[in-house]
Amino acid sequence: MARRSSPAVCPSNKRSASVIPPPQFQIDEPPAGAILTPQRPASVVPPEKAEIEPALAQQGCSLLNFPKIADPRGNLTFVECNDHVDFQIERVFYLYDVPGGSQRGGHALKQTHQVLIAMSGSFDVVITDGYTTQRVQLNRSYYGLHIPPGVWREMDNFSSNSICMVLASKGYDEGDYYRDWDDYLKAVSGVAH
Ligand code: TYD
Repeated sequence: MARRSSPAVCPSNKRSASVIPPPQFQIDEPPAGAILTPQRPASVVPPEKAEIEPALAQQGCSLLNFPKIADPRGNLTFVECNDHVDFQIERVFYLYDVPGGSQRGGHALKQTHQVLIAMSGSFDVVITDGYTTQRVQLNRSYYGLHIPPGVWREMDNFSSNSICMVLASKGYDEGDYYRDWDDYLKAVSGVAH
């Protein structure tokens, strides 16, 4: 894939308070050097037809569709290592009681794979490799977004009572984080795109 001349600007520089109704899957691929604007028109695509933008898929990002056992008593979804997620789960954590307007994430991990699942409600995840950026809305507990090491993520547009569960391949280690956008860009600028 041809390398772009300059990386995208961190998506946290521009924010929108408006909530895009689910289901939707918005693809943002700005021209090189453009400032991302979440206000740009969203293409509305049902999750089952959604596709991760090819450059991010090449990095290892993917949308996972977990089994769903439909039952009039209540539905059931399960996740098994090596079958539904291709890493061993060493840690589970979740975000909850998230106040409206909050932003979470704002980092990339050096070694850790994560799968984000909206266990309740909905929220958006902005993923970028520093060049290509995509906004994904998670709004079903049987969909997961796999974010591999080296991909920056930010979460916003949390609905009330939403719960973001994260399956992680490693235990918590602050040394595994890029938390500074400029440091992250320096780190990925040497990676071929
Ligand atoms: P952080 O990863 O910054 O949260 P987010 O990116 O979602 O905003 O973590 C917030 C705090 O919680 C930080 O002090 C580290 C701590 N923490 C743990 O102790 N263990 C964990 O597994 C996680 C994810 C965070």
